[in-house]
Amino acid sequence: MTHIRSAPQKAQRAFGECGYQSWEQATLETPLLKGDTAIVTGAGVGIGRAIAEALAREGAKVLLTDINEAACSTAAETLRKEGHDAICLVADLADASASARIFDAALKKFGQVSIFVHCASPYHQEESVSTLAEDAWTQMFDVNVKSALRIANLCATHMKERGIKGRMLLVTSLHAETPRGVPHYSVAKAGLTALMRELAKAYGPHGIRVNAIAPGIVSANWFPSADALANSVAMRRLGRPEEVAGTAVALLADRFSGYINGTTVVVDGGLSLHNWIPGPRG
Ligand SMILES: NC(=O)c1ccc[n+]([C@@H]2O[C@H](COP(=O)([O-])OP(=O)(O)OC[C@H]3O[C@@H](n4cnc5c(N)ncnc54)[C@H](O)[C@@H]3O)[C@@H](O)[C@H]2O)c1
Repeated sequence: MTHIRSAPQKAQRAFGECGYQSWEQATLETPLLKGDTAIVTGAGVGIGRAIAEALAREGAKVLLTDINEAACSTAAETLRKEGHDAICLVADLADASASARIFDAALKKFGQVSIFVHCASPYHQEESVSTLAEDAWTQMFDVNVKSALRIANLCATHMKERGIKGRMLLVTSLHAETPRGVPHYSVAKAGLTALMRELAKAYGPHGIRVNAIAPGIVSANWFPSADALANSVAMRRLGRPEEVAGTAVALLADRFSGYINGTTVVVDGGLSLHNWIPGPRG
């Protein structure tokens, strides 16, 4: 006789597969990323640091990595003082050997890797597409795209071997879609977006989800005039790193996003509703 499951029973079964008995139990009792181990690049400041903190506070063990030694070690130390399992590894992602060093350190410390978040990106000034130095293109592409590819492949191989339902999140930008005076940055972020889709397609069959977040204008040390920028946002304020981190947690936690793969979530307070691109100059 065919056994027909009721809707609540089906829901119960779905939560059971995630290790939870019910939505209520999952929501109230279990940190969203308990049992996860994460690598977060660019974790010394801003959005990367906020994401590393959010992952740790949701139960993940975190390897924070950055080229900025002081910022990275302070961020990891802060998390350890809160009682979380966090380490810092200083690395320059423009160096091709850094990716393996980062992955190996996470594996050695935590025994597995189930989450990879790529947030590192070099500082960028406005530049002309016609005069931008080749070194700047190379560095921007190496740090944003090539290091992401290397670490993602190392993580995916490991996840497949161990049967880990891994998750990856690449931090892109609205600049991936719109030219705005920083051509090397726009091209690198567009490349990173395409890479996200390729990874999602390649590793989706193994239960590994890969997505991107495209922040709008988020408070950072390097902004010249925040008030003028805020006026270009529908919500009339800049975003906070913690707000991007909240979305990151949701995209990494299967409880909220178990069927989201290969997509970009824009976190911009409505900035992209406006025509925020200045016309051509000169
Ligand atoms: N802040 C924003 O408004 C905004 C908007 C869109 C996208 N983003 C993206 O979000 C991410 C974080 O940006 P943010 O503004 O919070 O901080 P940020 O751009 O100041 O920080 C980037 C981090 O990457 C690190 N980094 C730079 N070069 C590196 C290298 N060679 N090797 C290793 N680490 C390196 C830096 O030390 C820094 O900690 C970046 O990818 C950025 O492109 C930011």
